[in-house]
Amino acid sequence: MKIGIIGIGNMGSAIAKGLLDDNELFLSNRGSNLDFFKDKDCTISDNESVVKNSDYIVLAVKPKYYPSVIAEIKDFLKDKIFISIAAGFTIKKLQDLLGDNKKIVMTMPNTPASIGEGMSILLPNKNVSDDEIQNVLSIFSSFGKAIIIDEDQFDVAAVINGCLPAFVDLFMEGLSDGAVLCGLKRDISYELIAQTIVGAAKLMDKTKEHPGLLKDKVTSPAGTTIEGVKALELNNFRAALIKAVEASFNKSKSM
Ligand SMILES: NC(=O)c1ccc[n+]([C@@H]2O[C@H](COP(=O)([O-])OP(=O)(O)OC[C@H]3O[C@@H](n4cnc5c(N)ncnc54)[C@H](OP(=O)(O)O)[C@@H]3O)[C@@H](O)[C@H]2O)c1
Repeated sequence: MKIGIIGIGNMGSAIAKGLLDDNELFLSNRGSNLDFFKDKDCTISDNESVVKNSDYIVLAVKPKYYPSVIAEIKDFLKDKIFISIAAGFTIKKLQDLLGDNKKIVMTMPNTPASIGEGMSILLPNKNVSDDEIQNVLSIFSSFGKAIIIDEDQFDVAAVINGCLPAFVDLFMEGLSDGAVLCGLKRDISYELIAQTIVGAAKLMDKTKEHPGLLKDKVTSPAGTTIEGVKALELNNFRAALIKAVEASFNKSKSM
């Protein structure tokens, strides 16, 4: 597929890396973040050329730049597929900027895309055909997992997708500090923590067992794990997580 990406920062480069081998890629960036791609099989040019050469265009600039970049490229879009990855946009807001007749797919990927482990949600507008939706699904599946989601679920799902990597980073850092406090070397702690989180997540995903049940299976009576669970509960661990998701959701609604 001919895919264009405008804005090669954190997300743009993560997506581009996932797509490099199997697609014709066209990239543009305002700054000088393109060193990694200079000797790769892709074309680096300006925003207008990216849109003219591609069938699917991902706009990967910060949300505040969306209106100006859209104004710059919208006349060249014609019936190409415009893919948004920005936080805080709705289909209506994008249609207001692009025009009601434009083909738009609103998405929310996340940064594990750079290692092929992204999670993306997709919401097409009514102008996008089934084949085009399948193509966008296949684009986003090339750097992880991708699902289509209903409009009323999109905003909160986008918060989970977009914000969760940072929440998990914080979780891993705190666990590592605890381990170091108890005498474990920092590098060993991060190796153990990362793999254990990957393993626990895959276990839940594969078995589809409720996380409470998985927790019950590893908490022996009067054992060490239940002591840690008690300490977390005394410090409102789950309430803190609920509040974090709600705070990010409220922020995304106010943008
Ligand atoms: N980061 C995440 O975890 C994440 C997750 C999901 C979705 N998103 C979404 O992804 C989008 C990009 O976020 P990011 O974190 O990747 O931002 P970023 O690292 O700042 O990258 C944006 C890139 O776009 C470039 N740019 C700005 N204006 C441009 C223009 N007019 N033409 C071409 N390139 C331009 C920037 O260049 P300069 O450096 O010169 O400004 C920068 O390299 C946002 O809409 C965000 O909501 C991000």
